[in-house]
Amino acid sequence: MEPVLQVKDLKTSFLTSSGEVQAVRGVSFSVNKGESVGIVGESGSGKSVTSLSVMQLLTGTGKIVGGSVKLNGRELVGIGTKEMRSIRGKEVAMIFQDPMTSLNPLLPVGEQVSEMLWAHEKDLSRADREARVAELFRMVRIPEAEKRLKSYPHEFSGGMRQRVMIAMALACKPDLLIADEPTTALDVSIQDQILKLMRSIQREIGMSIMFITHDLGVVAELCNRVIVMYGGLIMEQADILDLFEHPCHPYTMGLLASIPDINQDKQKRLQPIMGSPPDMIHPPKGCPFSPRCPYACRVCLEELPPIYTAGEGHVSRCWLLDADAPAADNPLSYAKGGKRG
Ligand SMILES: Nc1ncnc2c1ncn2[C@@H]1O[C@H](COP(=O)(O)OP(=O)(O)OP(=O)(O)O)[C@@H](O)[C@H]1O
Ligand SMILES: [Mg+2]
Repeated sequence: MEPVLQVKDLKTSFLTSSGEVQAVRGVSFSVNKGESVGIVGESGSGKSVTSLSVMQLLTGTGKIVGGSVKLNGRELVGIGTKEMRSIRGKEVAMIFQDPMTSLNPLLPVGEQVSEMLWAHEKDLSRADREARVAELFRMVRIPEAEKRLKSYPHEFSGGMRQRVMIAMALACKPDLLIADEPTTALDVSIQDQILKLMRSIQREIGMSIMFITHDLGVVAELCNRVIVMYGGLIMEQADILDLFEHPCHPYTMGLLASIPDINQDKQKRLQPIMGSPPDMIHPPKGCPFSPRCPYACRVCLEELPPIYTAGEGHVSRCWLLDADAPAADNPLSYAKGGKRG
């Protein structure tokens, strides 16, 4: 079956006064129907720029400079503004981190969701639209849904506003929902409720999800596959269990080590990866993670590693997987000798 989303060698840059920020440097992945894919990586790794490129919502000097983005088989790179407007909301919708920036403070929330419906389904009567909005509010478990339709965004708590955003994104039952850190601003118990909600709605309507976060723990709760980004590239991609059990990139290992473990005491909980992310105007010519990688060899600094296949659906961009890589002290020995490409 054709994937809902197919991204091939996507490259996106920002032309700034100091130079070209190569935010996304050749990213390829796909999202199948009903699948939930997590994208993780530190701040600045290119997660949001990837999703904004898919949505054709890059602002300022942001521009897709190469590659292809196909949604339901249709090429989105270079598509007209009007055509994209008819696709956005209906085939692909996005939820952002801060609902306040996406909700209109002057309009009752029910109206805003209703407008989204109207944009795509002009033949619905006003009464039908209102009924659909109330149904959506019930779906995202907003208590007393009918009454709350007339409330304004500021009358809602952060968690409830995020539910309104989800209702709005789901209004036209998109094939793909892109959620960019939708729970980061919420406290942990609300975050958990929203994740559970998204999971159950996904099952109910069978949509695909691309979930962006810097938290692998959150991905584990929601996603079946995970993409690890660093320096505008995909470093590793695998099924979630595979990634946790057999990480095939030192950067992923670092991320896994930094997941808080509630069984350990606070002092030992976090092991942040030392060092800072690369300069994306002058990205390193080798592996972007090499300056911070405890296992880096000379080749890592000099040449960008190819993509190796480390197992079924498991790929990693790391020289340690090369058949010729040294075996001693190689943390990836168990997967070494993976196929190139
Ligand atoms: N409007 C812009 N102009 C110039 N550079 C930008 C712009 N937006 C993003 N970038 C750069 O693109 C790179 C990728 O940014 P992006 O926002 O995708 O990171 P991210 O992975 O989403 O990080 P975070 O976890 O902080 O949200 C960064 O180096 C960032 O500085
Ligand atoms: Mg981001």
